[in-house]
Order: sequence, then structure tokens, then C-alpha cells
Amino acid sequence: MPTAHLTLRPQALIGAINPRIYGSFIEHLGRAVYDGIYEPGHPLADAAGFRTDVIELVKELGVSAIRYPGGNFVSGFKWEDSVGPASERPTRLDLAWHSTETNQVGLHEFHDWLERVGSELMLALNLGTRGTAEALELLEYANLDAGTALAERRIANGRTEPLDVRMWCLGNEMDGPWQLGHRSADDYGKLAAQTAHAMKQFDPDLELVVCGSSSSSMPTFAEWERVVLSHAYDVVDYISCHAYYENTGDLGSFLASGVDMDRFIRSVIATADQVKAVRGSTKTINISFDEWNIWYNTRFENVDKIQGVRNWPKAPRLLEDVYTVSDAVVFGSLLITLLKHADRVTSASLAQLVNVIAPIMTEPGGPSWRQTTFFPFAATSAHARGVALDVATVSDTYGTGRFGDVPLVDAVATHDSTVGRYAVYAVNRSMDGPTELTVDLSTLPDEAEGLAVSARVLSDPDLDAANTLDDPERVVLRTLPVVRDGATLRVTLPAVSWTEILLEP
Ligand code: AHR
Repeated sequence: MPTAHLTLRPQALIGAINPRIYGSFIEHLGRAVYDGIYEPGHPLADAAGFRTDVIELVKELGVSAIRYPGGNFVSGFKWEDSVGPASERPTRLDLAWHSTETNQVGLHEFHDWLERVGSELMLALNLGTRGTAEALELLEYANLDAGTALAERRIANGRTEPLDVRMWCLGNEMDGPWQLGHRSADDYGKLAAQTAHAMKQFDPDLELVVCGSSSSSMPTFAEWERVVLSHAYDVVDYISCHAYYENTGDLGSFLASGVDMDRFIRSVIATADQVKAVRGSTKTINISFDEWNIWYNTRFENVDKIQGVRNWPKAPRLLEDVYTVSDAVVFGSLLITLLKHADRVTSASLAQLVNVIAPIMTEPGGPSWRQTTFFPFAATSAHARGVALDVATVSDTYGTGRFGDVPLVDAVATHDSTVGRYAVYAVNRSMDGPTELTVDLSTLPDEAEGLAVSARVLSDPDLDAANTLDDPERVVLRTLPVVRDGATLRVTLPAVSWTEILLEP
């Protein structure tokens, strides 16, 4: 049996884990909002029309900040359409997703929903078809306590207290030719810098995210980051990363998607730090990985895309990927990669949350359920708190078509000193069989000897098993035996699996 070995070393600190790393994303896209979080008339809807079963699942998932309202949608969005009496709000075309937007859920309703689920708002600005002036107006509407026309308009619309939005995205994927208002790096960098500068005149403590590349495979990748940051470095706090992965038939490479994400993060850090050095700046720009997930994008591009000048459906079924066991294993490995960069990835958004490439699915008038990807996220968000630790994994390798030789096992650990918990996360990418993992605890402090050990695994002999409307609990986490042998733990990681090992009081 292949083997892997890692060492739990409290002193091998990567960095503090910012809770915002467990963020997510709701876009006005498909059935994320309408027939997703919001379905008036559903037996479980509250007085405002929000599904309470979905609220409970979002709480269970444990998401911190939620990015809103897009995505590509935001680049054609007029925020004014989404406030005021719902019956007076205009219905608009959504060019990004070739749909009709009724604006029945807007800024106020979404903020109320966030208060119910206990998450923070991360608000995206339209820098596609709009500019600095409209961004400032939204900022004043949202964050000024009272006394101006815009603040008073918010109050008249039912919200006395300011929304106090701390994190703002300066547009979305502005490097992408598909984006409304797509610009060159130079043009976008100037617009982002001008907008950020103006926003910080209102409140210098705002946290602003400038758009990085929409993927590391864009032809402009890295040069885009360099040029944009050379304009905006002094006035922004984060640069965004977006990455989606799909199994195109080469399972070995798909399972190694974390290698790609890792290289992507390292490249963006290198580029940001190069700009820092050139400018002689003492400030460090961190990463907001504000779109990451498994997404069968080729299926969308080739089959599901909506077209036709007379065809603008409301809340169509779009991007409703059904996630398998192997998808969830890769998904869990992406969380491991994010944690391995906890020092610089200080915000991240699982894209997305409900129905649209989502861990939570709903049926109109019917039930809601957890996709396979729900489980690694909920477990990691619940237990991987405090600081991230480098575990110096030594592992057998396997050959991949895309990345060459890759370790069979990738892993990270965390330590939450507030509750005394250590957590280890490990992915076994072996397609041939189990891998024997040993965990060296010898450098843990003496008091760790009394900690209880447990492990849960996501794996299945059927790698295509999934949770569906007809079989919503087909895939769950299972208990995995752990042998404690003095200061060593021994765990047999099943083929293609994601595992959480906990040591806790
Ligand atoms: O998450 C789906 C889409 O992916 C977003 O709207 C866009 O930003 C990205 O291309």
C-alpha cells in the first residue's frame, strides 16, 4: 500500500485563519435567489418570502461573508432598481445570463436575509456599465447614517441603521471579454484606482477588492495583475482570484486541481509583491479568492446557455451541476490549498451557495438538500479555525497528464487554541486503492496526550455517487477508524477520499 507521513507541529505556523476564508457567493443568476433562497408561497417560507429550510442549511454550512449580487450580473446592474417599494421596481433584462430580473429581492431584502443567516455582506460594484459616481452613491446610500438625500432615501425605504458594508468588490472579472464593460488592464486599473480613492475619502477603513484575472488561463494573466496593481496598489486591500475546475475525463489531473490552484496563488502573490517592491511600499496586498468551485462550465457553454432575442426567462434552471463523490474530494482539496495559504488568502467565496453550482439545492414547493460538496465545507468551516499549520507531508506520488508527478496525499492542519482543537485535513488522490497515512504527534505539547481522536471521510466505491431530489442522502460523511500508537496516528485513507481528523478535548 502506498504511504504518506505528516507531522503535526504547532510551531510550523502558516498564519492566522481569517474567518472570511469561509465566505460564499449569491448572484442573481438562475435559481439562486428566486426559487432558491426566496420562494414566497413555499410551505416553509417566512413572512418575507425566504425559505427557512434554506436558512437553516446555510447556517449549518457555516458561511462568513457572502458576495452579492454578482458575478457577471453586477456589470449591468443598477442598484437603484433594487430598492424602494417592491411593486414599483422595474423588471430588467439581465444580459449576462440572458434572463429577466424582476428586482423583487434587492439590497434591503438580501441584507435582512444575511442577518437571519448570520453572514456579512460583501458588496460588488458595477464598474462595467457604470462608474465612480454610481459607486459613491451606493456607498453613501448603504453606509451613511443620515442627513443626505441618499441616506434619507435608505431610511425612507425602511432601514434606519446604515448597512455598514465593510468589503467592496471593484467590479467583476473585468479582464473577461464576456464581461459587460470589459476593459484593458490599463483602463480598468485607472477606473478602479479612481473609484477606490474616492470611496476611501468617504471611509478610509473600507476594505476594497480589485479585480485580478478571471482565471489563471487567461492570456493576460499576471500582466493584468501587475498593471492593475501598479495603478491601484495604494488604495486597495485585496486582489481577487477566480478558479473553477471540472473533470473533463482525465480523473488523475482533475484530482490534482489543488496543484493548479496552489500555483495560481503563488503567482498572484509574487506579482503583488513585485509591485510592492517596485513601489517601495510597506503595505501588503492579500488575496480575496472570491470565486472558487467545481463547475462543469463546458456543459453550460455547449448545452445550457440561453439564447434568442425573444427568450429571456425568469429564474431559469442554470448551472445546476450535480456534484459527485470525486467532485467533493477535489472540492475538499481546494479548501486544503486555501488553508495552506492562510497567511495571504484572507478572504474567499465558494461560488456559489444555492442551486447555482451550489452545495445547497432546492425544489420549488419541495425539499432542499445537501450536495456532496456541502460536507467538506461544513466540516472545515466548523473545525478549521485559529491558525493553519504546515504539516511537511511526505507522500508517494502518481503521474498526471497535466501536472506531472503529484503527491498522492495533500494535507494541512489547524489549531484552535480557544477550544484546544487540532484538525488535520487530507486528500488521498490515489485512484488505485487506499493510502496508509501516519501522523506524527511527538512535537505536540504534553497536554495533547489527553485529546480524543476521531476521523470522518468522504469516499465511495462509486465515484459518481451524488445526492439528488430522489436520493438526497446517498452521500454523507462516514466515521473512519484511527489507530493511536503512542505519538503516532495511523489512518487508512480510502481511494479518492477526503478526510478530517480531529484531536479535541
Ligand atoms: O459564478 C458564475 C460566474 O463565473 C460569475 O458570474 C462570473 O464572475 C464567473 O465567470
